[in-house]
Amino acid sequence: MIDMVNDIERVLISEEELQERIKELGEQISRDYVGKDLVLISVLKGSVILMADLMRAITIPCKIDFLATSLYKDETVPTGEVRFTKDLDKPIAGSDVLIVEDILDSGKTLSFVEDTLLVRNPASIKICTLLDKPERRQVDISPDYVGFTVPDVFVIGYGLDFAQYYRNLPYIGVIKPEAVDRIKGRK
Ligand code: IMP
Ligand code: MG
Repeated sequence: MIDMVNDIERVLISEEELQERIKELGEQISRDYVGKDLVLISVLKGSVILMADLMRAITIPCKIDFLATSLYKDETVPTGEVRFTKDLDKPIAGSDVLIVEDILDSGKTLSFVEDTLLVRNPASIKICTLLDKPERRQVDISPDYVGFTVPDVFVIGYGLDFAQYYRNLPYIGVIKPEAVDRIKGRK
């Protein structure tokens, strides 16, 4: 069973801190993209909550689109290869693309997304991530807009999941190890 209150070890970033930072990011993006053909691209599913809040903090005209990725697995071990499980609805040629992501961890997902989208000739392509875990980086990629830099701990909430749960927590928290063991044990 999932316990939305007692499974949380501690709150890392509160709801208020998230909203304040996202407002700042929205203002900065609105200044940087004046006169541009801005398209926000959300990487499903983790970034949906950030996308919904960030787009409302942006005060200039913009479009949105969605894509989904999956890490190829050999049995249950990730191979490091990424593929699209949902592609964009519209071409991005000539557009100023801002990829909206929940967390930049090893960087493999975003580097694949960026390389794949670059081939489609956008006018520019930049990355906005709510969380950055630089200690975990395996490929050379750095985000253009970062909400918060976080230590190497597994975080949940505000879109981020463990076993697909906890995405609806309004803050970023750290899950208790015993909750992880319990949920894994049920599978
Ligand atoms: P990367 O390809 O290793 O950068 O992985 C990025 C993806 O891994 C994110 O979009 C998340 O879905 C997932 N991820 C990485 N770290 C965490 C975490 O601490 N909590 C939840 N999901 C995570
Ligand atoms: Mg994700």
